[in-house]
Amino acid sequence: MLGIVFTSLIDMLEDKVSPEFADEVIVEANLTNDGAYTAVGYYPFEEMQKIVGILVQKTGKSANDLLRDFGYYLFGKLSTVHGDVLAGADDVLHMLEYLDGDIHVQVRKLYPDADLPRFTVISRTDSTMRLRYYSERELYPLAEGLMDGAAHYFDCELERETHQLDTPHTYEFSLKVIS
Ligand code: HEM
Repeated sequence: MLGIVFTSLIDMLEDKVSPEFADEVIVEANLTNDGAYTAVGYYPFEEMQKIVGILVQKTGKSANDLLRDFGYYLFGKLSTVHGDVLAGADDVLHMLEYLDGDIHVQVRKLYPDADLPRFTVISRTDSTMRLRYYSERELYPLAEGLMDGAAHYFDCELERETHQLDTPHTYEFSLKVIS
């Protein structure tokens, strides 16, 4: 998993709680490199699972809630560092429509080893979309937070529902722009 995901997660803990809290989490998660991540390095996904596991213990929140909060925060980071890849998008659904065929394609060019999920647009109107998500990591709550963060970036709000499909590792988001 790309380092920017880890550096953003640690930044979130420092910003939203405190640098001391971030240090405690790093120590308790017993990370292989003591949490010394760089944005362009690659690290095992298990490291992120360890960090989330410690956060579950320390905050009492569920892993899904934590991943959703983190997705929201992460979109802010990604849009700052990679604002250029969003340049062609007019609104949140437009951006999600081009996520798989354009945004993550550009990401893959920058970071050839990135492990990216697959998104497929199932249906689309001006204000609604059904978007299918496939990833063996099943980080659908992270995707939910990223979508909410994207909605905030485009100055609107999304009403959304998530359904797990019978196909393994596959979820479908029903989205509606409500303001
Ligand atoms: C500025 C726009 C975006 C950029 C630059 C971006 C870039 C990235 C990067 C660098 C990763 C990490 C890959 C790795 O771990 O190796 C990633 C993962 C991911 N991205 Fe995006 N992303 C963007 C927007 C979004 C949005 C809006 C969604 C929500 C639907 C999304 C869904 C995901 C998910 C769920 C993952 C985790 C990997 C997985 O599910 O297996 N991304 N993205």
